[in-house]
Amino acid sequence: MTASNRKHSQTEQKQAPFSFSEQQQDTLFTELKTKRGILSHSDIIQLCNEHQVTELELLKACVPVASLFSVAPISKFYVGAVALGITEQGDRQFYFGANVEFSHQALSLVVHAEQSAINNAWLNGASSIVKIAISDAPCGYCRQFMNELNTADTLDIHLPEHDFTLRELLPNAFGPKDLGNKVSLLSNTSQSLSFVDVDSIEQKLVITALNSYVPYTGNYSAVKIATYQHGDFYGGYAENAAYSPSLSPLQSALSQLYLAGVAFTGENVESISLLETQGVENQLEVTKSVLASFDFSPAFEHIIAALSE
Ligand code: THU
Ligand code: ZN
Repeated sequence: MTASNRKHSQTEQKQAPFSFSEQQQDTLFTELKTKRGILSHSDIIQLCNEHQVTELELLKACVPVASLFSVAPISKFYVGAVALGITEQGDRQFYFGANVEFSHQALSLVVHAEQSAINNAWLNGASSIVKIAISDAPCGYCRQFMNELNTADTLDIHLPEHDFTLRELLPNAFGPKDLGNKVSLLSNTSQSLSFVDVDSIEQKLVITALNSYVPYTGNYSAVKIATYQHGDFYGGYAENAAYSPSLSPLQSALSQLYLAGVAFTGENVESISLLETQGVENQLEVTKSVLASFDFSPAFEHIIAALSE
């Protein structure tokens, strides 16, 4: 075979990438709702064996399933992202994410799919994110959001047709170090902070607030969405060196709610609690604004607690 023939036949033999059938996507979507948008290490191994694919092939095939979680009443542009994260125990997990839009609200409040997936990984035990597969090219704002990660220098980004590193997509970046910040998103979990007088505040809300990533304002804060039948959902505050791409705790909690397939309606949502750090509070107005985009008003509790020295 001549070199040019071989090249020709290789092109002909190039297989289409693995993808799930529509029915398989629906089945996985249903399963993921009960798992709140996370595939565990054993789920991944089982699916790789079942479909005879590599972990990366599976990650990419999961992207259209992630898009099914999208809530995009304005754009009707359904973006999906799946992050491969590694837990402290060394388990590789898939964390799903999708964009969330709010009707009649400033477009700047939208949660992007990449933020949703990274937020999902961050809140649920990942200590690093190795790669992320996305349905569409990440916007500049998401590239900046990803630049806050502890793995920003090595992060791989997989689009349906092309693979990149974050460094290729965001050269000469502005980032945490430019502000003298030595910590990064996902590597700030072992702080020894506590709030004063928190006995009356629910423990999980306190823990989520203390694990929030707030190197720029120090406002350790979190939101709890309590539902009638689907359990509670928590969100933390994740700041960004460029400030604008920061994710507020309510946005963070809402994207978690949607990853369980639960709609933000009066039938589902019982109450919202916002916990903030005394002296550096900054989340009340944005929380109220986001809540105002829904046509019902759940009970709302605003708790301000002092950090102990
Ligand atoms: N979107 C993402 O989720 N990620 C990106 O990086 C590109 C844009 C969403 C935001 C908005 O909901 C819709 O796509 C249109 O911009
Ligand atoms: Zn984006």
